[in-house]
Amino acid sequence: MVSNSLAKTLKTSPLEFDYQATTPCCAEVVAAMEPYWSDCCGNPSSRQSRAGLMASSVVSLARDQLAACLKINPERLIFTSGATEANNLALLGHARARAIELGRPGHLITLRTEHRAVLDPLQQLQREGFRLTEIGPDSEGLISTAQLLDAFEDDTILVSVMVANNEIGVVQPIGDLARACRDRGVTFHTDAAQGFGHLSLEPDGLGLDLVSLSGHKFYGPKGIGALVIRSGIPIVPLHWGGGQEQGLRPGTIPVPLVVGFAKAAEMAIQDLDSRQQRLLKLRNQLWEGLTSQLPDLILNGSWLHRLPNNLNFSVPGVNGNCLHQDLRAYLACSSGSACTNGKPSHVLMALGRTRGEASASLRMSLGRETSISDVQQAILAIVNVVRKLRKTY
Ligand SMILES: Cc1ncc(COP(=O)(O)O)c(C=O)c1O
Repeated sequence: MVSNSLAKTLKTSPLEFDYQATTPCCAEVVAAMEPYWSDCCGNPSSRQSRAGLMASSVVSLARDQLAACLKINPERLIFTSGATEANNLALLGHARARAIELGRPGHLITLRTEHRAVLDPLQQLQREGFRLTEIGPDSEGLISTAQLLDAFEDDTILVSVMVANNEIGVVQPIGDLARACRDRGVTFHTDAAQGFGHLSLEPDGLGLDLVSLSGHKFYGPKGIGALVIRSGIPIVPLHWGGGQEQGLRPGTIPVPLVVGFAKAAEMAIQDLDSRQQRLLKLRNQLWEGLTSQLPDLILNGSWLHRLPNNLNFSVPGVNGNCLHQDLRAYLACSSGSACTNGKPSHVLMALGRTRGEASASLRMSLGRETSISDVQQAILAIVNVVRKLRKTY
């Protein structure tokens, strides 16, 4: 346990450093959604009623708003329940459509450090007869165009590489990777759940064919996301029903969530540069403060090609379970992805970390609310817990 004096210094509730797991829905987003829960609760597919027509035009407006943030035609947006569903629709839907065209399954490429919401659908496709290459990143978590070119086979149909990693925040050169794919007629998908709203992201400027988005990663509501589809990219649906979303995602459109999603996107891009500068400064102060007292911390992932709000490091010489248990009262952060069920991180293992290093790791992600005082308190808590565990007091 940490000393009483430290306990008094720290806030009573744990400091929030887990904004990559999710973000709170911001007040403006909640206010924008408010009328559509009960007062204006029409079904956008019921065009015979006034309420339905109104709901339909609200959805149209939100679609336009989100499309403007991405600088794309609104018809290219398919609303889904989040990035997991968007990834499934992109990967399963496109690979199966191409297999129908070609008369056989083809070859797929991804990165070993992708989120499970990409790896699992790709592994499902493997069970359906597709071949899958999982490229290992370099020790910084990056993949190069040369590595991708090496992995191409004659019948490669689809490549999926995320914009920014959810654990180590590493930002991939997706523009270059997408260009290499376009030159060879291969479809490029990217999971932008951790990228959009945190980095400038224009699908057309980058040459992206399929892009998955998630609302709750940038202060929007949970349960809403989207798939951006470049025109001409074939997709077969995964579900059948009322034909909504061009038949690709049937089911009643959740009007309040769509409104909140679009509002959050608009807000996220409005002050993107200044917010990222502020977070970068705080994140750097966090790392400098930690390493000045614990110089042997191991940074996980590239320092240069990284989201400004992410820090991920391993703590040598301590047990991972003890580290997380002792920190829990002071700090809400993560040992990896929010969705990996306590196994050692496949991302950190792919970077060459040992199981011990992977489990004694902290992912700290900063958000709009993070202050310099939070950073200072987090440094104090981590340094004290680590020294205690190492018995170096
Ligand atoms: C990179 C990445 N992809 C997909 C997801 C899943 O997103 P959603 O919760 O919207 O399904 C997450 C969430 O943790 C993520 O970080």
